[in-house]
Amino acid sequence: MSTTEIVIADSLSDTLETGPGARWWPNPLKELKARRAVNDQLRALNPETDFHQIAKLVVGRVFADAFFNDALFTVAYWRQIAIRTIAPVLHQSGRGKTYETTKRVDDTLLFFGFLYRDGWQTRRAGATIDRLAAMHERFKIPPDDFRYTLSGLCFEPVRIPEILGCQVLNEREARALFLFWREVGRRWGVDVPEEQAAFRAWMEHYEDTVYERTPEGPQLATAMGDDFCKRFFPGPLKGLGYTVLRCCADDHLLDTVGQPRPSRVSRRIVGLLVRAFAAFRRWVPASSAPQLLRQWNREYGTALDPMIVGPDWAKKIAPEHRRQAKAGQCPFAAAKATLQGAESDSQSHTPGAPSP
Ligand code: HEM
Repeated sequence: MSTTEIVIADSLSDTLETGPGARWWPNPLKELKARRAVNDQLRALNPETDFHQIAKLVVGRVFADAFFNDALFTVAYWRQIAIRTIAPVLHQSGRGKTYETTKRVDDTLLFFGFLYRDGWQTRRAGATIDRLAAMHERFKIPPDDFRYTLSGLCFEPVRIPEILGCQVLNEREARALFLFWREVGRRWGVDVPEEQAAFRAWMEHYEDTVYERTPEGPQLATAMGDDFCKRFFPGPLKGLGYTVLRCCADDHLLDTVGQPRPSRVSRRIVGLLVRAFAAFRRWVPASSAPQLLRQWNREYGTALDPMIVGPDWAKKIAPEHRRQAKAGQCPFAAAKATLQGAESDSQSHTPGAPSP
């Protein structure tokens, strides 16, 4: 299959994902063959040029399991909570949407699904990014924190397996994820380093400098952990769910967000399980059709649209409400504008509080 054919087939099935009448495969053998074909599609792509396609196939098909993606997101969110300037913004005097956790997680993963589906280069993608940026302008967020959040999207899928002593993504896929989120970030106006290694080094240095246990951190981390367990480790299995999450985090992170460290044996066992599951997914990808949106769509039905998704206070926020710089402008200027916009906002609102 040529790259063009893959793109056409892909956008057709993307349309199916959001449309009514979910895909149904009556023939398991046909389905198995279709899933295995995803591996061939991946091999045919070049990470330097086809990084959007690779990111979409890896996240939306090979490792499309909701369990995998939610665990990754929860640990990545813990990393946000560990940053001393991010935790208070997410907490918002106890009114933060993190505490409406299920909706917050679903909505965020839907937005990520839209971005993986649409990329950054089309009008539709640009509108999603502008709307997200406009939503964030309501908060006082330093440019480095935007860069840090983005670094998690680039590197957490690589770092978690490293912590567990295994490898899930190969180098081509890790490269594709970096390039994909770098471009999304730049379209947003975030200053992202050109080089993958330089960005990862920056991320680690930032963590060494600004990780701090805040009063809000442990409460936020528990809200996220509880939501993950409620979905995948309900009732008496909750402890097991937390062990899985803690094994995916390093000690520095756990200490900062007030989570106990798991034993070395737990880490080893979880590492072996993840390794085995990842190997199985390489053999049989999770889905032959995109699964970027469906599993997080409890609320929107067939009206699923990036212009509607989000917390209630953001319902009226549209892409054109964005005040600051857009793609093509100097990223430093954009970052500065973000800060200035937030500062002017904070004159009329409590810092970190959404507008009514
Ligand atoms: C470029 C990096 C970032 C991306 C891709 C991103 C992504 C998102 C997404 C997809 C949502 C929508 C969630 C929903 O609809 O409920 C969201 C909401 C939000 N984000 Fe971000 N974000 C980024 C950076 C940050 C940073 C650095 C902070 C905090 C300092 C932050 C704070 C918030 C807040 C407060 C909300 C509103 C929902 C709430 O109250 O929890 N974001 N973000």
